[in-house]
Amino acid sequence: MADAIITPWEVKGTVDYDKLIKDFGTSKISAELKQRMKKLFGELHVMLSRDIYYSHRDLDAIIGELEAGRKIFIYTGIGPSSEMHIGHIIPFAFTKWLQEKTGANLYVQVTDDEKFLFKKERKLEDIERIADDDILNVIAQGFDPDKTFIFKDTEYIRNMYKLATRIAKEVNFSTMKSVFGFTNSTNVGMIFYPTLQMEPTFFENSYCLIPAAIDQDPYWRVQRDIAEKLGYRKAAQIHSKFLPPLTGIEGKMSASHPDTAILLSDDEKTVERKVMKYAFSGGQQSVELHRKLGGNPDVDVSFQWLSYMFEPDDKKLKQIEDDYRSGKLLSGEMKQILVEKLNSFLSEQRKRKEQAHKLVEKFMYTGALARKMWDTYYE
Ligand code: TYM
Repeated sequence: MADAIITPWEVKGTVDYDKLIKDFGTSKISAELKQRMKKLFGELHVMLSRDIYYSHRDLDAIIGELEAGRKIFIYTGIGPSSEMHIGHIIPFAFTKWLQEKTGANLYVQVTDDEKFLFKKERKLEDIERIADDDILNVIAQGFDPDKTFIFKDTEYIRNMYKLATRIAKEVNFSTMKSVFGFTNSTNVGMIFYPTLQMEPTFFENSYCLIPAAIDQDPYWRVQRDIAEKLGYRKAAQIHSKFLPPLTGIEGKMSASHPDTAILLSDDEKTVERKVMKYAFSGGQQSVELHRKLGGNPDVDVSFQWLSYMFEPDDKKLKQIEDDYRSGKLLSGEMKQILVEKLNSFLSEQRKRKEQAHKLVEKFMYTGALARKMWDTYYE
């Protein structure tokens, strides 16, 4: 089997997550580390207990800091290229939990520059419209408005530019080529852009923890090479797997292929139509055969989505899995369970997004952390 392709811009093929740990030089989140987190936080998020967040760098050091009563900060982001889909919720739902458990400051970078530079066909005004919509969806997760700063690169750049030039001076084109696969036809904006994605790891002097899917890892590899030279700490990461597309467990969900994704804006009918029509099933060809042989939840996308986040109750999930394997639960019934879960999640998300309009100013400009950030110039 050919190796899967995993870059910050593309995920193709069947991802071998254990191999990625070896290739990227990260570590598996061990049972012992999970135990320490459970003790510290009083519970374990299902994305940890179910190994959706499965790999890390220096998470042990982060836990050590928290155990000793010291502060850390959290950094994550979103690239506004098309509408947000439910895969994007994975890091934000998990980050919300992390902020609640640690009380840490959170920085959310909205990379309008990145998406303009990387998407040939996109105009800056399209990107800005998508960015504003993404910001509402992010706010809808319920972060603490005084401990969270959400910023667009094109706006906050005036406070970041000096330090960005120092970062850029430490990285040469040959590193960029080998880490990101840049070529001679890559535009020069794209070559500079990673400097800006690395910079928020230096926003505070304490340890930075980055929750994201493992596709963002190349940035952090370069960050870890240069951080200490610039007088900062290497950033720690906690990496998730990819929520698979509706059409099968290969690759990652992408809004560029809307029929493979559930968008946060999809209405109830659209959700039902997409799941019923496209969700790859692990069931048998006929009801009779299914009753006799049972289904395979390991490749059944509806079951996989329930297990990633939409059925948080372990007992219920186990029951669904057992019933599917035994043939008691049919593929259509599995899909129906997912449709209901998705629609109730999306209806909540829409309600909270309506409320989010009122909070934009606070998260971006007037909340306690935002005000401090606009008064801070990084050098
Ligand atoms: P972007 O917009 O591609 O993705 C935003 C976040 O969602 C994660 N993600 C997924 N997670 C699980 N399943 C999926 N199918 C899936 N698709 C996307 C991504 O890993 C990411 O965490 N360059 C970044 C923006 C960024 C950023 C950051 C991300 C700037 N600074 C710091 C993480 C941490 C981007 O374009 O993300």
